[in-house]
Amino acid sequence: MNARDFDHWVESSLTAFEATLDSLVPTAAPAGLGDAMRYASLGGGKRLRPLLVLASCAAVQGDGFAAMRAACAVELIHAYSLVHDDMPCMDDDVLRRGKPTTHVQYGEAQAMLAGDAMQALAFEVLTPETGIAPALQARLCALLARSAGHDGMAGGQAIDLASVGRALDEATLRDMHRRKTGVLLQASVMMGAACGEASSQALAGLSAYGAALGLAFQVVDDILDVTQDSTVLGKTAGKDQDANKPTYVSVLGLDAARTLACELRGEARAALAATGLADTRLLDWLADSVVERHN
Ligand code: IPE
Ligand code: IPE
Ligand code: MG
Ligand code: MG
Ligand code: MG
Repeated sequence: MNARDFDHWVESSLTAFEATLDSLVPTAAPAGLGDAMRYASLGGGKRLRPLLVLASCAAVQGDGFAAMRAACAVELIHAYSLVHDDMPCMDDDVLRRGKPTTHVQYGEAQAMLAGDAMQALAFEVLTPETGIAPALQARLCALLARSAGHDGMAGGQAIDLASVGRALDEATLRDMHRRKTGVLLQASVMMGAACGEASSQALAGLSAYGAALGLAFQVVDDILDVTQDSTVLGKTAGKDQDANKPTYVSVLGLDAARTLACELRGEARAALAATGLADTRLLDWLADSVVERHN
């Protein structure tokens, strides 16, 4: 597989993903709620988590319908987390995915409700009447719920808010980043793998890949907050320092943060090699794109 094959896979996967997500997010929810949900979830974002689901499913030659539903579900959780993350009571941001944030556009109450409804919709999407066996539905719901809740993203966000203005040590910072961002990326990989048959060796390798890539992703997010401008990012640059948040850049410095991101990519690669799976090249490319991204 060369760069062109990868780009082609990304393009065709995203075309199918966008069409599926568009069909699943309601246009007609009460009192304009659907508009806010669609605004927050459609037409923007890199869609990394869905790509991880689809690439992981491809690595285990899993079921495409279930994986596409899982891709939509995980993106709905992610997009909801962004809506709430941007609200005045959290990071208080006005720009997201190149547009005004959802609460700026629709008001705080509607943004909060849109996030709530997107979270519920994620689990609805995983439990269709037909097309996904009940045991797989339960497995996908469990993986997603555990990564989004108190022990995962929401818990990590609570640590993030409680850490403003504090000098964290590296182990605490790593734990916060792993929870608030890493586990949802790791869950994306494991949900894709759940859509097929994978040995325990393959699952262990994919889990380690997801953990390393998930942490690398937030390390790079911290770096880009300092090095990139808002136009390229599609969100407000320099936010972490303004808000006095501990980040990999504030704790380690820029150079060491960059080195760490590269080391984590190496860890992710090594973990993939240990899966014993025949073809993990899409996941390999995705690890590169996480570390080399510009937004
Ligand atoms: C941003 O995630 C928030 C973090 C978890 C760091 P992304 O960088 O994946 O945001 P989108 O989905 O591309 O907008
Ligand atoms: C957000 O981390 C993680 C989430 C769970 C949304 P950040 O607060 O660093 O994300 P950005 O930089 O606003 O996208
Ligand atoms: Mg935040
Ligand atoms: Mg934020
Ligand atoms: Mg950030």
